[in-house]
Amino acid sequence: MSDLDFSITDLRCEYLVDPLGIDETTPRLSWRMESERRGARQTAWRITVASRPEALVSGGPDLWDSGRVDDDRSTHVVYAGRPLRSRETCFWCVEVWDENGARRSSAPAFWTMGLLAPTDWQARWVATDPVVFARDPDSIAPSWTQPGTPGLFRKAFALPGESRVRRAVLYATARGLLDLRANGARIGEDLFAPEWTDYHTRIHFRTYDVTALLTPGSNVLAATLGDGWWSGYVGWQETRGRYGSLENSLMLQLEVDLDDGTRVVIGTDRSWECFTGPIVTSDFMMGETYDARRERIGWDRPGLALVDTWARAREVAAPNAALVAQRSEPVRITETITPVSRTEIAPGVFIYDLGQNITGWIRLKMRGLPAGTRLVLRHGERLSPDGTLYTENLRRARSTDVYVARGDPEESWQPHFTFHGFQYLELTGHPGTPPDDAVLGCVIHSATPPAGHFECSHAGVNRLWLNGLWSQRDNFLTVPTDCPQRDERLGWMGDAQVFIRTATCNMDVAAFFTKWMVDVEDAQTPDGLFPDVAPRIDETSNFVGLDDLCGGAGWADAGVIIPWTIWRVYGDTRIIERHWDAMVAWLDYLERTNPDGLRTRDLRNNYGDWLCIPTDTSFRTHSPMKNLLATAYWADDAAKLAQMAQALGRDADAARFRAMFERVREAFRSEFVLPDGRLSVETQTAYLLALAFDLLPEDVRASAAGHLVADIRDLGWHLSTGFIGISHLNPVLTLTGHVDVAYRLLLQETYPSWLYPVSHGATTIWERWNGWTHADGFFNPHMNSFNHYSLGSVGEWLFRHVAGIECDPKNPGFQRFVLKPYIGPGLDFASATYRTAFGTISSHWRKAGDALVWDVRVPANCRAEVWIPAAPDTQPRLDGLEAIDRDDHFVRCHAEAGSYRFETTLP
Ligand code: BGC
Repeated sequence: MSDLDFSITDLRCEYLVDPLGIDETTPRLSWRMESERRGARQTAWRITVASRPEALVSGGPDLWDSGRVDDDRSTHVVYAGRPLRSRETCFWCVEVWDENGARRSSAPAFWTMGLLAPTDWQARWVATDPVVFARDPDSIAPSWTQPGTPGLFRKAFALPGESRVRRAVLYATARGLLDLRANGARIGEDLFAPEWTDYHTRIHFRTYDVTALLTPGSNVLAATLGDGWWSGYVGWQETRGRYGSLENSLMLQLEVDLDDGTRVVIGTDRSWECFTGPIVTSDFMMGETYDARRERIGWDRPGLALVDTWARAREVAAPNAALVAQRSEPVRITETITPVSRTEIAPGVFIYDLGQNITGWIRLKMRGLPAGTRLVLRHGERLSPDGTLYTENLRRARSTDVYVARGDPEESWQPHFTFHGFQYLELTGHPGTPPDDAVLGCVIHSATPPAGHFECSHAGVNRLWLNGLWSQRDNFLTVPTDCPQRDERLGWMGDAQVFIRTATCNMDVAAFFTKWMVDVEDAQTPDGLFPDVAPRIDETSNFVGLDDLCGGAGWADAGVIIPWTIWRVYGDTRIIERHWDAMVAWLDYLERTNPDGLRTRDLRNNYGDWLCIPTDTSFRTHSPMKNLLATAYWADDAAKLAQMAQALGRDADAARFRAMFERVREAFRSEFVLPDGRLSVETQTAYLLALAFDLLPEDVRASAAGHLVADIRDLGWHLSTGFIGISHLNPVLTLTGHVDVAYRLLLQETYPSWLYPVSHGATTIWERWNGWTHADGFFNPHMNSFNHYSLGSVGEWLFRHVAGIECDPKNPGFQRFVLKPYIGPGLDFASATYRTAFGTISSHWRKAGDALVWDVRVPANCRAEVWIPAAPDTQPRLDGLEAIDRDDHFVRCHAEAGSYRFETTLP
């Protein structure tokens, strides 16, 4: 393809590449027009969908032919063909016409439908027969406080010797976690499937194409079933089984289509065999103990003559929950990391440093270990001053893996059903010195596709951005968790809402949050309260504490902020449609309980500006700050609902929520705003919320911003916000004309600041500004994680305002966007790339004195409003664009697709 030509790539169905087993019956399709030509854009498209790939080219698409549609849309195009049925494979491609009438076709892509109806499942739910624990005295029967030995399940079956396997598809679900195998090979690369949901409401099934793993004749399908969220420790609770049961169970249905047109179905039932295996115990918080001497050699292949220790699987009642397809990227190992150092701190005690705080586990490679050698792996984020592993901040999470060697000349192993948050490993039990390649770190998280990259002339800022990215990777594990290391790891809503916009800059998180919003809605109370954590705890379980976790100001509001952000960034209106009633129920609740427009009643939890400095101004005291914060969020929820209502064409709702916003804003003003723009509660976060949410009268905005700046100055140019204020801090300073203050805070290195942890070796974002300080060392370990992304939410500002890649508020999704960098003191260059559904946007500026050179790229089929920084009375070089207008700081242009270089003089 010449640069001037174009091509159609990156076909996606429901945000995913060639997804298997979806259950969305009107899936949305997207594609990307790729071209370097200026002005390249799509003028029409035609989608064809067929049940056989050949039919796309000849014979006519039997599922859908959209015909030519004159339109520039290339995302969220809703399938409108013949109704889709369970198990169908849908091949599709798209033709696109450009602005010159030239036509190009994409290569074919596909999606497959999962099992849509409960009656599609012929298989039965089965569990281990407890008799196996008696037959294997070394196994451990699970209890409320102790994980037990994960069970093995197997089924030997024969396929007709004369027929080829045309297609074999496995549908798999469990209450617990699955590790699936066929004929000795692992099925797929997913980890921890089915992933976390509110198991009382819905349970995921996953679909795997296993055609290549089966053969004519004898076959074996096998599974190991672990505990995970279903029956293991979750949160800080002292007992396991948060869903009320310790019994894991699974349901597998293998459907084999043979060449001769027949279908063989192998489903779990009483004919399956079960036994205990080498995983003696396994738990997310506690770790895994694996005794390789207990491996049942050959158990997952044909030919094993079963010894009578194996028992028949036991059929158990099916759950009273919907089986739904997982709709987000699976959890995977996405990277491996070789340790940067190994130190023997005491005889036989080896400390490994990965150089990076990760979520995942260690893969071991061992040579010549005597059988029964017991290697103990303990994980921690930091070292104590004496060089030993620091684990106090893990609280009750033991994070200890144990491997007992088989005695083979070479052995390699990694855990199955656990994960740890760690940078350091302590290895003991290895005779002599472990081989150099004994230890490898495996990074594990939801495999959301990378989107953004940021770089600038300041090494500390680059590391800060990277730390935010790492904390995102380390915590986006099926749900956005607060932390990956201690006995918590919950989907805290407040953390997620302050970070979501940054998350969208770093990774494509559309599918991830689409999935999580379902968990959020599942957790909503009948009164309409959104939860503080999702998935939510169940009241019928033996847990205490978490079931009251709902309605928190700035936490529950994530139920509005998440869909709004996904709509804004990805142009997705379905997420707001699907959660519309839930959002309205939440605002109805707020209105009902707070008739005077101040959100002061029935607040349940109000965490205030969590972990601000000093923490006592808002934490655990019913202070005016909390009322201000809660009311500000209510007003903003209403404003967001009004915008979303408009996008959905719900005019009456738009008017209702606009009026609600005005009313709450009025109440806010009379309660908190003084005539000179001062607030009755003078914290940085109070000013930030009032400014960010447009709660102040126009004529006092500037003076309010001045008070904010004065507060920062009085603290010696330091921030004092907690989770709630932090994501607004630099954007608000920038948009109120205090760009220099924003840059000053960014580059501040003394405590408290973003760069303080960076200059002390942080490789992730810390939970607290004072997680560790020179003066006091480690903060109290009862709540001191070194991997919490919230304070890293400055990442969005680096993309939106430093590099200047910003949404166009009038046009959600990035087909129309704004390029507007705010150049401040202390950086010589900044550069960002951001991959959207339309292609990669880039912005790279470099300054020398007053002179600025700025290179940008607008992807094909996109248009940008470009704001070129320029001093008054100077004429920037606009690379062929025309100025529309200008103010004292910027010249404004429109740019079609293409690459541009602007040369200008800074104001
Ligand atoms: C979590 C937070 C969370 C907070 C709410 C903490 O234990 O780690 O990140 O938002 O509780 O109070």
